[in-house]
Amino acid sequence: MRQEVDDIHRQGGTIAFVPTMGFFHEGHLALMREGRKRADNLIVSIFVNPTQFGPSEDFKSYPRDLDRDIAMAHSVGVDCVFTPAADAMYEEGHQTYVDLTGLPNHLCGLSRPGHFRGVATVVAKLFHIVKPQVALFGEKDYQQLVIVRRMAQDLNMDITIVGVPIVREPDGLAMSSRNTYLTPEQRRSALALYESLKLARERVARGITDATSIIEEVTAFIGSHAQTKTDYVAVVDPQTLEAVDRIDSPSLLAVAVWVGKTRLIDNTILSP
Ligand code: PAJ
Repeated sequence: MRQEVDDIHRQGGTIAFVPTMGFFHEGHLALMREGRKRADNLIVSIFVNPTQFGPSEDFKSYPRDLDRDIAMAHSVGVDCVFTPAADAMYEEGHQTYVDLTGLPNHLCGLSRPGHFRGVATVVAKLFHIVKPQVALFGEKDYQQLVIVRRMAQDLNMDITIVGVPIVREPDGLAMSSRNTYLTPEQRRSALALYESLKLARERVARGITDATSIIEEVTAFIGSHAQTKTDYVAVVDPQTLEAVDRIDSPSLLAVAVWVGKTRLIDNTILSP
């Protein structure tokens, strides 16, 4: 990978980079299509990063299909797919991590301790290997996007971080590699996440600006669906991720919900 990247840079080429954990869907492909437009070379990594999974999470069962992924990447013009082995990324004796002091103390960071430390660390490592000018991340994982932006700025990484809007199934469910875990009944309940965001947007459009009443209504709506258990429903400042009481400027509504044994997330901006 280093050789490939050095060759590109020697020839004055630019690199757009999309880090992923594979098992591609249209959300991943949207990032790649956007990357294709922004540089001469498009590199995608596939690495199911062990350090961002908790001990009781789905690292072992995370879906994998490398042949299919490579064919899909090829179809949208990816030049190079980087698939490092776990022991190459984390050699024996590895002991350096990237920790942010504030942004992980909200939303998913509270129910997934250490998750964003693993994410920031692996993204920093991949950035150092791939040396891109531009890197693309989905707004689906909104907290991850702001954390990567903050890290790139704080560590003086000369990389433009581009956010790409959420890609959804025709009925509105945000695409996710984890959707494959859902049974037909759970798949129907999973739609509650998107429906609840629409409900909140409608309330705000009608002039409701009290975050607590929006959160209560969204929580009750999700809870009325089979096999759901809400992890959090939060209205936060889109930059700091601090909770807001009143939606008097664009605010992020973020939800995380267990549907059976699958944890799903979604979000939207609420604009007064
Ligand atoms: P992964 O879940 O494979 O997602 C890779 C990228 O695709 C992320 O930037 C994610 O936000 C984006 N993405 C996923 N679903 C999307 C959707 N429906 N619409 C738009 N974008 C979507 O996120 C990770 O991998 C990892 O944490 C990683 C950044 C690779 C670090 O290990």
